[in-house]
Amino acid sequence: MNNDDIILLSDVDKTQIRERLLKLPKLDIFNVSDTIYQEVDVARKCIPDEILRVLFSFRKRSNQEGRLIIRNLPIDSNLPKTPELGEISTEKQTYISEYILLLFASLLGDPISYSDEKEGALIQNVCPVKGCEEKQENSGSYNLSFHTESGLHPFKPDYLGLFCLKANHEKDAATRTSSIRNCLRQLPSSAIELLREKLFKLKAPSSFKKHELFETTVAILSGNILDPDLLIDFALMEGLTEQAQWALECIFNELEKQSVGHVLLPGDLLLIDNRKSVHGRTFFKPRYDGNDRWLQRILVTKEFHKTAAGRSVEGHTYHPLYVENVRNG
Ligand SMILES: [Fe+2]
Repeated sequence: MNNDDIILLSDVDKTQIRERLLKLPKLDIFNVSDTIYQEVDVARKCIPDEILRVLFSFRKRSNQEGRLIIRNLPIDSNLPKTPELGEISTEKQTYISEYILLLFASLLGDPISYSDEKEGALIQNVCPVKGCEEKQENSGSYNLSFHTESGLHPFKPDYLGLFCLKANHEKDAATRTSSIRNCLRQLPSSAIELLREKLFKLKAPSSFKKHELFETTVAILSGNILDPDLLIDFALMEGLTEQAQWALECIFNELEKQSVGHVLLPGDLLLIDNRKSVHGRTFFKPRYDGNDRWLQRILVTKEFHKTAAGRSVEGHTYHPLYVENVRNG
């Protein structure tokens, strides 16, 4: 154990988790049954108590950084080539990495996916895709600007988990995060007042189907005055007035100033509090040789029951945004 937002797992604990996960059944990522979720819940016993304590605390009110990194987790022994299009790999026949994400997600809430993105896959591959370099999506490789995950969605995730299977060749692609808890006191009071008003237009990310149909007007800060929630996307957001744009620039500068970057290495799991912290990534140069950077991602909600009207009774995939009347909020 290290400080309160980075945990280094011992090799003994790593082996214990690997052996437990190897006993779990084969996984169909498009059809995860309740039986599988139960097996994952039972498997939590393989996680050491001191790590469970940190995770339960993170679930309750996360931490100052809105981020937790767990290093030295087990990954699959023989990884196939990185999926070229970010698709679900049919060559990957073992499921250690997927189970790591399901296991840690189960300690924070319930996994959720969106039909709009990656065909609703519960665990998604984050890999560079040829021709998509400049896209502000997880298929890109240019600088990915700070954003709240699925910020426009009425049921955006409370947490996201990013698990590294392969680092980029140069090991210099840093996943950046920045927390409102580190920024609030540095902002002018007048900016905070503006940021709490619905003065900001937010478009849907291009990774969403029919994204061009959707935009809404939101407040960037909400909730507790001393410990607000943050909803922001610098690539997809603009202030509706000159003053709002000024406030947006104020918070942009402060989030940049307070940001921290971590190069994720194989076996590193990054958990992000999507209400307190934004995330992005620095530029990297893919080689498209089958060994490019490969992360897997899971989204987690603390309020699964509130999503019930948008999914099947036992499903975890929310219906498309164009079914939901979200246009103009
Ligand atoms: Fe993201």
